Amino acid sequence: MNQPSNVRKIALLPGDGIGPEVTAQAKKMLEAIASHYQHHFEFSEALIGAAAIDATGTALPQETIDICLDSDAILFGAVGHPKYDKDPNAKVRPEQGILGIRKALQLFANIRPVTTYASLHHLSPLKTDRLEGVDFVIIRELTGGIYFGEKQTSTDGNQSSDLCIYTREEIERITHVAFQYASQRKNKLTLVDKANVLETSRLWRKVVQEIAAQYPKVEVDYMFVDNAAMQIMMNPAQFDVMLTENMFGDILSDEASVLTGSLGMLPSASVGKATALFEPIHGSYPQAAGKDIANPIGAIVSAAMLLDHLELKEEAAVVREAVAWTLSNHFVSKDIDSVNFYFTSTIGDLIADYVTGKIPGSVKQENIELRKSTII
Ligand code: IPM
Ligand code: MG
Repeated sequence: MNQPSNVRKIALLPGDGIGPEVTAQAKKMLEAIASHYQHHFEFSEALIGAAAIDATGTALPQETIDICLDSDAILFGAVGHPKYDKDPNAKVRPEQGILGIRKALQLFANIRPVTTYASLHHLSPLKTDRLEGVDFVIIRELTGGIYFGEKQTSTDGNQSSDLCIYTREEIERITHVAFQYASQRKNKLTLVDKANVLETSRLWRKVVQEIAAQYPKVEVDYMFVDNAAMQIMMNPAQFDVMLTENMFGDILSDEASVLTGSLGMLPSASVGKATALFEPIHGSYPQAAGKDIANPIGAIVSAAMLLDHLELKEEAAVVREAVAWTLSNHFVSKDIDSVNFYFTSTIGDLIADYVTGKIPGSVKQENIELRKSTII
C-alpha cells in the first residue's frame, strides 16, 4: 500500500521572460500532485532560448536535447528576447531553441485546445452569446511547411525566400491524429488551408479527402484560412477539430486565444516520435518578466495535458477542476483583471493547495488578500 509508482522523468525547460515564472507554478502543482497521489516525478532542468545563448552560445545545447530524450515528458516555458527581435541580422535566435527541439524530437502534432470559461466571458471582445458552446481544438502541423523549408537570401541581400514544402507522409501522419481526436469528440473536422492559391494546400486537401474514407463517422469540411480567421470571430462554436499546417496554426491559435479572454490561458501539447512536450502557447512576454504578474494558467493546463499523457487521468482532471475553481472565484492574474489581480505565485499556490485537497475547505481569505494587488 502507498508504494510510490514508477519514477517519471520530467525535463523542465523554463526558457526566457516569464517562462521561468509560469513553469515554476506548473512544477509546484506537479509536486503537489506527486505528494498527494504518491507519484515520483524527477525533474531535470535544461537551458533553452536566450538563456541558453547567454550561457553556451547556442539556443539549443546538445545537453538539452539529451535530457529531453531521456525524459518521459517535457515542460517548456517560453523563448524570446527583444534584443534579437530588433536585430534582423542576428545569427543565433532564441526561437531556434523551440523550433530545434520540435524538429529533433519529431514532434509533428501540436494540440491546442481552445476552452472557454463562463467566468471570463466578459473579457472576450466577442459578445457572450457567440461564446456559448465554444470548445474546439486546433491541431497544428509542427515540423514542416514554411517554418522548416529552405531559406535563402541573395548575395546582394536584396531578395529572400522561405520555401513552403510538405510531403504526403507529413500530412498523413497528422491527419490521422486529427481524425482520432475528432472521433473522440464531436466527429467534426475542418481542414483549414489556402487551396485556392497554394499547391501545398491542394496536397493537404487531397490527402485529407483520401484519409476521410477511413473515418466515415467524422464529418469533414474545408475552409480557406482567410475565411477561417473570420469564422473564429463570427461563429467559433461551429468548430470541433481544426486541422491546419504549421504557420496557419500558429496564427489562428493566437487569434482563438482571444475568445478565452487572454493569450495566457491556452495550453498545448506537442507529440510525435520522441518525448512529448507541453507548453503554453504564449511567448516570453519580456515586459512582465520578474514581476510575478504573468498568467500561469496556460502553463498549468499544459502540465495537466502532460499528466493526461502519462495516463494520470484523475490527476489531470483535478488540475482542471482547480483551474476552474480559481477562475470562478476570481483568483486571476493581471491580464485578466488589471485592478483586482493576484500574483502568479499566489495563483500557483492556490492550485497546488486545491489539488492536495486543502481547499476550498480552508482558504484563509485574509492571507490570500495580502498577496493581492495593492493598486486598489
Ligand atoms: C508558438 C510560438 C513559436 C512558433 C515561436 C516562439 C517560434 O509562436 O509556439 O506558437 O511560431 O511556433
Ligand atoms: Mg505562436
